[in-house]
Amino acid sequence: MDNFTFYAPTYFAFGKESEKQIGSLIRRFGGSKVLMVYGGGSIKRNGVYDAVTAAMNEENIPFVELSGIQPNPRSGPVYQGIEICRKEKIDFVLAVGGGSSIDTAKAIAAGAVYDGDFWDYYSKDMTIDRALPVGTVLTIAAAGSEGSPDSVITLEDGMVKRGATGEALRPRFSILNPEFTTTLPAYQTACGITDIMIHVCERYFTNTEDVEITDRLCEGILKSMIEEAPKVIADPADYQARANIMWGGMVAHNNICGVGREQDWASHDIEHELSALYDCAHGAGLAVIAPNWMTYVTEHNVSRMAQFAVRVWGCDMDFAHPERTAQEGIARFRAFLTSIGMPATIRELGGKEEDIPTLVKMLGVADGRQVGGYIKITPEAAEAIYRMAM
Ligand code: NZQ
Ligand code: ZN
Repeated sequence: MDNFTFYAPTYFAFGKESEKQIGSLIRRFGGSKVLMVYGGGSIKRNGVYDAVTAAMNEENIPFVELSGIQPNPRSGPVYQGIEICRKEKIDFVLAVGGGSSIDTAKAIAAGAVYDGDFWDYYSKDMTIDRALPVGTVLTIAAAGSEGSPDSVITLEDGMVKRGATGEALRPRFSILNPEFTTTLPAYQTACGITDIMIHVCERYFTNTEDVEITDRLCEGILKSMIEEAPKVIADPADYQARANIMWGGMVAHNNICGVGREQDWASHDIEHELSALYDCAHGAGLAVIAPNWMTYVTEHNVSRMAQFAVRVWGCDMDFAHPERTAQEGIARFRAFLTSIGMPATIRELGGKEEDIPTLVKMLGVADGRQVGGYIKITPEAAEAIYRMAM
């Protein structure tokens, strides 16, 4: 295991009616005037908006709203939010929604106290060490942004999708009420489950040895998702399954299962170009990329892929031919993704063979960008994976 530091001080309030704590938590973490950031309207339809605003009104906390954040969030509303924060003297940013609203809130929080262009953080790999405090009310278990120090934004000029990171972005608190996720359509639910599973896989496929504790945490999260997914697809109102998936999304990505080990993140980087070019759901893009990445990297460490197949997918170990066990594990993963309604090819996302050179160029590996920790992704590797996924 490698040396590491781990500091993840988000306050989580989990369960039914946990949103009633919003007002007191905003005060506790220093907020006196709030920018509330949310998406395209689901929270107005399912009552979450009313519950959140009632909780703020209860504590007499003034708030300004920024709505209409779209999936694969864009830079435009970030600039708008930064301006509102400065003009209105906002001292707390509250995201209500999923990764897109939360990541926008984080970008605004960082940009509002930075003299330059907020995009510097995303384009120059600068760590974010200062931001307004952020809180979240989660409505979809997926991105894990409610516990992560990360934010992913697409710059409208050129449609470049990039991430930024920094401990200052970790939410001060996150409200996790599983009931808020019961109105999710089955497709979005499945996209979220896929994202959660790939967050684990990005950590699981490592070159670091002797990481049994984090291996087992990863395997536990993956097995739970395999078990809970069909329950929520069959019954969207299954509270206990929603609860397990919601907390699964948090532990999959606040890095508790990734510390002390080299991580990969190639599937994410390769996917981000799909959601930038085709505006597909991030989880759907991952469903298409990750199994092909797995096939591509199997030879790099056959026994790790076989371990994944045996421990997560229940395959029998073929000691004479471990590569067959590895392939069987990937096949079961593909079948699982199909069973929850995920696409298997880039074509299903609207992509075409002719786009491959563009996707490879957007990924930036030919210009020196480092992608992948398990194996380094070269332009040839990227092309091969996009081609397999087509
Ligand atoms: O906009 P509204 O109307 O709210 O609808 C949303 C949106 O259309 C809908 N939705 C959310 N909660 C709902 C609901 N519909 C009905 N009932 C509910 N309870 O779901 C759609 C997707 O929302 P979004 O916020 O985009 O989902 P997600 O959480 O998957 O976020 C995806 C974004 O997060 C980034 C992705 O790249 C993508 O841009 N990521 C962020 C990460 C991070 N910050 O740590 C890590 C991830 O790997 C990921 O890259
Ligand atoms: Zn993700």
